[in-house]
Amino acid sequence: EPLSYSNSSALELLPANAAEALRPDLLKAREETLADVELFNSGGDVPAEKEPLDAGFIELPAKLLATKESGELADLLAAADRFRERVDAFVSLGIGGSYMGLRALQEALGDSLHNEKPPSHREGPKFYYGGHNVDPAVTANLLNHLEDSGVDWGIVVISKSGGTLETALAFRLFREALEESVGADEAAKRVIPVTGGEGSKLRALAQEKGYADVFPVPDGVGGRFSVLSAVGLVPAAILGLDVEALLQGAADMTERFRTAEPGDNPVLDYVTTCHLFEKHLSMDVRILSTWGDRLEAVGLWYDQLLAESLGKEQRGALPLTVVNTRDLHSRGQQHQEGKRDKLIHNLYAADPSGANPTIPESDADQDQLNKYAGKTVFDVLTAAREGTDQAYAEDNRPTADIVLPTLDAYAVGQLLQMLMLATTVEGRLIGINPYGQPGVEAYKKNMNAILSKG
Ligand code: PA5
Repeated sequence: EPLSYSNSSALELLPANAAEALRPDLLKAREETLADVELFNSGGDVPAEKEPLDAGFIELPAKLLATKESGELADLLAAADRFRERVDAFVSLGIGGSYMGLRALQEALGDSLHNEKPPSHREGPKFYYGGHNVDPAVTANLLNHLEDSGVDWGIVVISKSGGTLETALAFRLFREALEESVGADEAAKRVIPVTGGEGSKLRALAQEKGYADVFPVPDGVGGRFSVLSAVGLVPAAILGLDVEALLQGAADMTERFRTAEPGDNPVLDYVTTCHLFEKHLSMDVRILSTWGDRLEAVGLWYDQLLAESLGKEQRGALPLTVVNTRDLHSRGQQHQEGKRDKLIHNLYAADPSGANPTIPESDADQDQLNKYAGKTVFDVLTAAREGTDQAYAEDNRPTADIVLPTLDAYAVGQLLQMLMLATTVEGRLIGINPYGQPGVEAYKKNMNAILSKG
């Protein structure tokens, strides 16, 4: 089922013809995005102002799906199966785009108690993250835990550049511990690197160590646009997530983006809402209001995507993810009565997408919940969302909705692709290159210089 997007009540707060007036520029931004794909595919010269041109993510899902019988996707699924057979736990090392997307997939689609369950009740090995930060105590704790637990463990190490210090450092620590505990030969069978091509130090290291399964981050797919490449898909497959459905959802979203008119095109309609509220009402704080726990990491992934793609040239909206109802008890006050600089997008599934407890009758009704007996937890969540929207509307605070028919891999594939395409289209619309992140280099340069001083 297709994801749906609705912004009709929000648009009422804007000048009557605002969306209509934007339409020519919006369609031009779509054309430019699609022309970028052609240029990228042709391998032709890229004009300087478009460097880097990382438009490869747009057709990647369809290209990968075409290899499911033989080729990259088939190899990836087979390697994931072998890895699942070999280890009972693994750590995924990576940062930024080599971390956030996987987290989004795992939290949205995996079991929230994955590591607590016995092997017979969970899909794939136990699962940990590393290298996504520099924290000595946390790193040591995980290393000790893996060593002391006595389980067969392995590593998926993800770095497109192959030169990111946080990941390289974590990989060195975990690799040495693994080699020490099982020997270099066995360790080589328990490590899967995902990295870029020539020039990646991680690729060179993988060759040196003789790792059998090495998966590529294709050229022209930027880190934060790489969730639906081997970067997200290798660990997702190890965890038993439905990789094909993810890719199908994304491929279908690309097709819808190419062909559907504004009004039935979630990518273009989302960009319309965001752009118009910034332009007409200076609302440049973008709240992604997720309902329930499972979409929080999708929100954090999107925070990175938007901030790193459009936060350039002293411009770009501020992304902020909230999880409700949790954050109604913290940030909710500010969203209801604070500065009028916030555009709120609800992100939710239209059905419970899993078990849904019913409120029981109780003899002792001190908590006075008997009046709700027979309703479900999902009914309460829905009432909270509708009540919140109503309260915002009464104070002319704009909300729009991204609705997943159900929280499954096909819907999440659509959602991630929608948000990546929207970020790109918005960049083209406002004249900011969404690809590349030159501002991230400044700290790295300084950090390396400080470390080199000894
Ligand atoms: O979006 C990006 O390109 C970055 O956030 C990168 O993903 C991040 O810096 C990690 O880079 P790498 O995968 O090269 O280690």
